[in-house]
Amino acid sequence: MTMLDIILDKRYGRKLSDEQIRFFVKGVTDGTIPDYQTSSLLMAIVLNGMDEREMTTLTLEMCDSGKKNDLSYLDGIPVDKHSTGGVGDKVTPLLIPLIATFGVQTVKLSGRGLGFTGGTVDKFESVEGFNVEISQDEFPVLAKSCGMVISGQTPDLAPADKILYSLRDVTGTVDSIPLIASSIMSKKLAGGAKAIVLDVTCGSGAFMKTPEEARELSQAMIRIGNLAGRRTVAVITDMDQPLGRTCGNTIEMQEVYEVLNGSGSSDLVEVVTTLAAHLVTLAQKDIYGNMEELVAECRRRLLNGEALEKYRLLITSQGGRLSPTGSPLYREYPFDAMHVNSPANGYVTRIRADVIGKASVMLGAGRLSKGDSIDYGAGICFYAKVGDRVKRGDTLCSLCHGENAKIDDEVLFDVMNLILDAYEFADTPPEPRRAVIDVLS
Ligand code: URA
Repeated sequence: MTMLDIILDKRYGRKLSDEQIRFFVKGVTDGTIPDYQTSSLLMAIVLNGMDEREMTTLTLEMCDSGKKNDLSYLDGIPVDKHSTGGVGDKVTPLLIPLIATFGVQTVKLSGRGLGFTGGTVDKFESVEGFNVEISQDEFPVLAKSCGMVISGQTPDLAPADKILYSLRDVTGTVDSIPLIASSIMSKKLAGGAKAIVLDVTCGSGAFMKTPEEARELSQAMIRIGNLAGRRTVAVITDMDQPLGRTCGNTIEMQEVYEVLNGSGSSDLVEVVTTLAAHLVTLAQKDIYGNMEELVAECRRRLLNGEALEKYRLLITSQGGRLSPTGSPLYREYPFDAMHVNSPANGYVTRIRADVIGKASVMLGAGRLSKGDSIDYGAGICFYAKVGDRVKRGDTLCSLCHGENAKIDDEVLFDVMNLILDAYEFADTPPEPRRAVIDVLS
């Protein structure tokens, strides 16, 4: 078997055998296949796709390329959640403490931001002292003492995915359903959860631009999950505008704290409570047996201080510092550097999340290349979101950099212009839309 034959088979639209896929993943992992051949096959997969069997084999081989977590030390059924990425996505810091109020324990492995999508690890790291580099040996200790662990991805979990993902990132081969589905599910399977809830984002700030594409990706991941014996649910959520009121790192964690103190924006609360209700159900901790009542109970616990107590426990158990009043202390605080004002009277009909993500990276909140440093205090705070009525001159959003950072005025003006491109207006209000578009299981 040669890599050239495998590339040619996929290039001409033929299905790859399980042996060919095994050969490919093994060669990627042990470094015997050169990057140019791997990239060539990745592009052929983007163009010609994979069927269900090929996708499942690819996932299982990637999952088997490294170590697997054994979560049997957790009480009950280990659950996990994964988002396909977004802008302003501060769901995990809200979700983990919320499900902990139901006794659902989690070991959550998260990534750093790259490109216009933010990373959960960076958000937690904006809290002074918070340590995300938790070793495998520490997982059980932390899980037993606090029931929640947030860690960066361990290098030995699905190493084939790490190699493939970094190549995909620079070869225009990220947005492919078989490649995204196998990448996500290989990590989730290796992570040890028995039940998985997927937040499949959809819209301008997501890989999947339409609900149809998001459904196709969801179905692919659900099939893989079920074939691997994991109960899997996909919640399709709107990413056609940034989620919640902020995007950045400290600024998003400040929003998280506000939500836990009772004032969350409706889109964020809807997404978090829906995902939480499905996780609680899969973990068999549902006290109602009725999804509507369970979502309402999640909402109550998210906003009434119960999840806040768990959040403080999560922060302090990993070294994060709290002020005497119980709010987290941050490495860098946002400084409000410029307001972007509305150029028009009317209703906001769209805020292109991808453009906002780029603007946030320009402010310093994200990375263009792996290893770039970030300004934890940088970000954007939105005063007007889709559906809001504005007058010319009203503040649409404010641009922040860290108190100790500096941004040239020129960059701030470029960011302002980008943001003005991202906002669209009309004389009539847009159709109201839900943050949760669909749930598939
Ligand atoms: N997230 C992942 O982990 N992998 C992808 O391919 C896309 C999003």
